[in-house]
Amino acid sequence: MSETEQFWKTPEAAEHFAKIADVLIPGRQEILSRITALVTMGEEEPLRVLDLGCGFGDVTAAILKLRPNAQVCMVDFSDEMLRLSKERFIGNPRISFIKHDLNGGLPTELERHSFSAVVSCFALHHVEFACRVNLYHQIKELLVENGLFLNGDRFREASPVMDESVFQNWAAFMAVQLHKHFGKEETVASVAQGQRASDQRKGDKPGTIWEMARDLQQAGFRYADCIWKQDTVAIMVAANQ
Ligand SMILES: C[S@@+](CC[C@H](N)C(=O)[O-])C[C@H]1O[C@@H](n2cnc3c(N)ncnc32)[C@H](O)[C@@H]1O
Repeated sequence: MSETEQFWKTPEAAEHFAKIADVLIPGRQEILSRITALVTMGEEEPLRVLDLGCGFGDVTAAILKLRPNAQVCMVDFSDEMLRLSKERFIGNPRISFIKHDLNGGLPTELERHSFSAVVSCFALHHVEFACRVNLYHQIKELLVENGLFLNGDRFREASPVMDESVFQNWAAFMAVQLHKHFGKEETVASVAQGQRASDQRKGDKPGTIWEMARDLQQAGFRYADCIWKQDTVAIMVAANQ
C-alpha cells in the first residue's frame, strides 16, 4: 500500500480533513458551488454523476441539494471515507459506491455506463502523473456527448519563483485562519514547513493548470479550460462541445 493510501484510509485523516477543509483551502465553498452549478445546469433527468475521490461526500451532497433525484456513483480508495459517505447517504438508492484506486484508471464496473458529468474535488492531485492521461481518456469515454469533466483541485504555478510566492501567500492565509478558527499562534514559516511535511505524507503531486490542459487534450477532450483560480486552487473543465 502506498503512503498516500495509508494516510487516507485512517479515521484521523477523514476527521482532520473535515476539520480543516473549509478553513485552510481558499475558496473551497466557492469551488463546490461553481462545480455544482455547472453540473446541474442541464435539464437531463435523472442527472447521472460520477464523483471521483469522493471522500465523505461534500461534492455529492452539494449536487443533491440542487438535484435530489441525481444518481451519483462515488469512488474512493479509502474504506474509511466510503464508510462515512455510505452513512451520510444511507437510504438513498440512487447513490452507489465503488472502492477503487484511480491510479489504475476507472473501475471496470463502469465500462458500460455513461454519465452527464464527472466531478472531482481535491483528489486528482494525489494520482501519479504517469496515470493521468489514461484516467482522463477513460473519463471522456463515459461522458455523454455534451457532458463535462470538472476538477476542482490544488495546482502549482509553472514558474518556481511564482510557485514559491503563491505557496507563501497560502501559508500566510493559513496562519491567519489557524489563529481565527483554532486560536493557534503560528508563524508563516512554521505553517509553510508543516504544509510541506503534510504534502509529503499525503503524497500530494499538484501539476500546473497547463499540464492538466495538455493531458486532457492528449486524452482526447476537444476543449480544456481553467474557469476559476485563487492562489493554489483552481477549477479545470474539459468538454467536447
Ligand atoms: C482531500 S480529500 C477530498 C474529498 C472530497 N472530494 C471533498 O472535496 O470533500 C481526497 C480524497 O481523495 C481520495 N483519494 C486520494 N487518492 C486516491 C486514489 N488514488 N484513488 C481513489 N481515491 C483517492 C482520498 O481517499 C480522499 O477521500
